[in-house]
Amino acid sequence: MQKLNTLEQQSLSQIQAANALDELEQQRVTLLGKSGEITQLLKQLGGMSPEERKDFGQAVNVLKQKVQSALEERKEELETATLNKKLLAEKIDITLPAAPYRVGRMHPVSYVMEEVEGILSTLGFDPASGPEIETDFHNFTALNIPADHPARQEHDTFYLPDNAEGQKRVLRTHTSPVQIRTMQKFPPPLRIQAIGQVYRCDSDLTHTPQFQQVEGLAIDKDLTFGHLKGVLQTFLNRFFEKEIEMRMRPSYFPFTEPSAEVDIRCIFCSGNGCRVCKNTGWLEVLGSGMVHRNVLTHSGIDPNQWQGFAFGVGIGRLAMLKYGINDLRLFFESQQTFLQHFGKPSGLRP
Ligand code: DAH
Repeated sequence: MQKLNTLEQQSLSQIQAANALDELEQQRVTLLGKSGEITQLLKQLGGMSPEERKDFGQAVNVLKQKVQSALEERKEELETATLNKKLLAEKIDITLPAAPYRVGRMHPVSYVMEEVEGILSTLGFDPASGPEIETDFHNFTALNIPADHPARQEHDTFYLPDNAEGQKRVLRTHTSPVQIRTMQKFPPPLRIQAIGQVYRCDSDLTHTPQFQQVEGLAIDKDLTFGHLKGVLQTFLNRFFEKEIEMRMRPSYFPFTEPSAEVDIRCIFCSGNGCRVCKNTGWLEVLGSGMVHRNVLTHSGIDPNQWQGFAFGVGIGRLAMLKYGINDLRLFFESQQTFLQHFGKPSGLRP
């Protein structure tokens, strides 16, 4: 009995003195665990005479309960103390100035895409789209690009494994396949624009493997080269927000006949000659022409009844010229200074 008293005093004062939850848990194990001191005492009961067992058993059970409640009490105290300490440490200083609210801006390439789409829409070109993973047929064959054309080579085009029908697949190298998809789907007359991402196996100071283009296509019974010229002149004037001097140079694209490349009078030197126009006074801005009859045939349209024009423009090129951006890499380096300067407010100001 004397031993029990000593054990009680010792245990209770140790529990009271415990300063951390793991320390307390250690004490619980030492006293009440499988081979804990109190557990051992309870085990001794079996070998005692009934009278001894009665008194001793009662005393050990009382001790066990005292120890249990002391453990619980101390546990609660320690938990509260830990929480209070944490709360004090986490005090919020409401007198600190607020962190600046940084508002993102729209990327120049994104808003030039919007500008272009807006202008072409007012000229009656409805938005159309096609997949970025294209079949070799839509990207090349239907556009009258011959099997041995250099653009089809592996080092110019990203090829993907064939599709389930065994068709060759590519990452589209231009937006022109949307011409084919639209003509296959909708009957003429048609007037569509297609803006989107295109991909070429090309990476240097003036080329990136992914870039953006806009395609225009108009099909009707009596469209002429004059209509093409009128649309392009209006588009360029509206895009650059001034009267633009433009010239059409004979050129070659497999999907147009005749084909023309379009130059504008250099907007940096007004044609006097500068670094940007390489002293020619002219800047190349887009490709265009009258849709080749083979392209119409491949798309299921009778070339004896219908004709039209098409054009393709690089969005990055337009953005660089309009906003005087001289390095293509700036478009995808995500430099905050560049994006803050050339980006457009997003319209989401708080
Ligand atoms: N697809 C051509 C390219 O990526 C651009 C182009 C030229 C598109 C003439 C046209 C066009 O629609 O008529 O270089």
